[in-house]
Amino acid sequence: MTDEPEVELTEALADDTAGVETVDRREHLAAAEGAVLRADNLVAGYLPGVNILNGTDLYAREGELVGIIGPNGAGKSTLLKAMFGLVAVRSGTVTLGGADITNLKAHVLVGRGIGFVPQTNNVFGTLTIEENLEMGTFLRPRRFKERFEFVASLFPTLAQRRKQRAGSLSGGERQMVAMSRALMMEPRVLLLDEPSAGLSPAMQDEVFYRTKQINSTGVTVVMVEQNARRCLQICDRGYVLDQGRNAYTASGQDLIHDPKVIELYLGTLARA
Ligand SMILES: Nc1ncnc2c1ncn2[C@@H]1O[C@H](COP(=O)(O)OP(=O)(O)OP(=O)(O)O)[C@@H](O)[C@H]1O
Ligand SMILES: [Mg+2]
Repeated sequence: MTDEPEVELTEALADDTAGVETVDRREHLAAAEGAVLRADNLVAGYLPGVNILNGTDLYAREGELVGIIGPNGAGKSTLLKAMFGLVAVRSGTVTLGGADITNLKAHVLVGRGIGFVPQTNNVFGTLTIEENLEMGTFLRPRRFKERFEFVASLFPTLAQRRKQRAGSLSGGERQMVAMSRALMMEPRVLLLDEPSAGLSPAMQDEVFYRTKQINSTGVTVVMVEQNARRCLQICDRGYVLDQGRNAYTASGQDLIHDPKVIELYLGTLARA
């Protein structure tokens, strides 16, 4: 994938996406100065010649809670995966604390301070809660005890049920295990891909509450969400991704009340 001809990248960047208003890149670049996590002008995709990210920019400042919303297939998961070394970045850069981490492997990035909770299959069902959390510290097993105590302070019920198999938990509880596992390595930045997907409204509330709580311990969070309105309510800043580009970016509150964002991306529920 990385050995494709340059010309395709250039063409992809030149190909303007009709109807999508692109964020002022210069303004965004200036605001990104000093951010803990940055993605600049990312081009990435799966199949040769097909780019899913078409020059995407994103930044998260230390301690920020950043939301990414957008239609299905917009490239939200791809953006998280590209920042986490799971999809090859064809051009552009990803930096963590100012250091270039573009295309580093996921396990290296875990060691550098990035946690990632994928959209699906994010726990080992046949393992217990405790064993799942042990997987989270596989790089530094000696940290298990201390990190388990931290996670237990956030999710006391999981700690009480540590011997229960993750496969027997509810969807919401499994999501908590997945988040906890990512927290075991004490990440500076936590990437969450649709943590509330498929959960009951009550469990969705729980997930948003927990995400905010994790963020308040000082962990920078970048979350992708289908539940756009709820996501924008809790995040400091949001991005609307459309066709692999930033269509809008602003504070969560500004995006929620922006008529264009409501019309195009938040749908009828948002108007209610
Ligand atoms: N492994 C893959 N191989 C090839 N194409 C893929 C792969 N994963 C995703 N894609 C394609 O990339 C595009 C963006 O997918 P992505 O999963 O990033 O979207 P998304 O914004 O997360 O959507 P959703 O809201 O449905 O989760 C889609 O057209 C999808 O079909
Ligand atoms: Mg997705």
